Amino acid sequence: MINVPKGTKDVLPNQSYKWQYLEETAREVARLYNYKEVRTPAFEHTELFQRGVGETTDVVNKEMYTFLDKGGRSMTLKPEGTAGVARLFIENGLASSPMPVKTFYITPAFRYENPQAGRLREFHQFGIEVFGSSSPETDAEVIFAASSFLNKLKIKGVKLEINSIGCRICRNEYNKALKNYFAPHVEEMCNNCRTRFDKNPLRILDCKEEKCKTVAKNAPKITDYLCDDCKKHFEGVRSLLDAQGLEYSVNSNIVRGLDYYSRTVFEFVSTEIGAQGTVCGGGRYDGLLEQLGGNSLPAIGFAAGIERLLLLMENTGVPFPEETAPLIYIAGMDEKSRAQAFKTALDLRGKGVSAEVDHMQRSVKAQLKYADKIGAKFVAVIGESELESGVLNVKKMSDGSCASVKLEELYSYLLKEDK
Ligand code: HAM
Repeated sequence: MINVPKGTKDVLPNQSYKWQYLEETAREVARLYNYKEVRTPAFEHTELFQRGVGETTDVVNKEMYTFLDKGGRSMTLKPEGTAGVARLFIENGLASSPMPVKTFYITPAFRYENPQAGRLREFHQFGIEVFGSSSPETDAEVIFAASSFLNKLKIKGVKLEINSIGCRICRNEYNKALKNYFAPHVEEMCNNCRTRFDKNPLRILDCKEEKCKTVAKNAPKITDYLCDDCKKHFEGVRSLLDAQGLEYSVNSNIVRGLDYYSRTVFEFVSTEIGAQGTVCGGGRYDGLLEQLGGNSLPAIGFAAGIERLLLLMENTGVPFPEETAPLIYIAGMDEKSRAQAFKTALDLRGKGVSAEVDHMQRSVKAQLKYADKIGAKFVAVIGESELESGVLNVKKMSDGSCASVKLEELYSYLLKEDK
């Protein structure tokens, strides 16, 4: 037997309603906040992620699904959504649209990681990206959009942590301080971090190796190196969150695992799903568009992991809406009645009512048992006498009550009764 690849998951027919619920909730939040959907390809030129996400990140260094296509071009399955949307923005000239440009996406993403609870090789993200505004209001709005998504799903106990990692100017000073701090410890660090020490010392703070974590424990904090503009920006964001009473803590250890970030970064973290507790992460990336060859425009966004949210909801008993079921099951006793049941179901479906009939040549008894199993809300049986009279006996499954309904009035009866 051929199995599903390690780190990937099937979504089964009796589970997909949970996914649909999350996706519909995401779309509703996007609608309320006026974010428009964008879709980018599953794979991009490898260079996009190397330049965008950053060569010293774990994502690019260790986790990308990269392959040569038949034309010898290096392609990579997207490990995240932001770089692709930034490319879309630049390539399609969206810089000439009225600003800000507010986008969202629901996408699979691929990272060659060691699978564990909440960490997969193929996972899905609901993300938003806003281009063109540098104002703290936009940071706050993006954070509120994420928070409102989690609230709509009735998720509890998720903590918001925010930080500012400064701009190019303050980062320069900070990198110098980090280099001074790490210099005596280079020998103690992993190979990757030795390279990071030369190229991008900030990334050492993000390393998952124990020995590097130990060394990084007392490293200087970026918050002590912010320039005046970055400080002011961060205060602006915080006062907007404070004004609405949104709870958060400032965690100066959040540096995020991707290189494009600047200024505000944030994560929504849960303690209920094990080591992979970050259900949503995001931040500003004011330099990314320019770095990818576009106009110098500020941007900010987040992405929430759908599988992690599902895991959290399941682990903490957050209710999902009921699985969808057909409104009516129409059983047929003999060949002629089955044909009528088939036709009536088609008519109802044509009018927007979900209807089901037998596909298995079952007896009426077995058909009714099946109708019960699939949760049909109403059941009707057509036999010789119903064909003759044109009147059906319709049973409401929730209370067992029955009603005589003319075939031509079945649709309006169901509409009236289905409340
Ligand atoms: P990220 O923190 O790498 O950020 O991923 C965002 C979310 O995707 C995580 O918080 C987590 O819920 C989920 N996630 C990441 N990796 C995995 C995995 N291996 N298995 C399951 N879930 C995972 C980004 O991807 C940025 N593009 C977010 C962003 C958008 N920043 C600005 N705009």
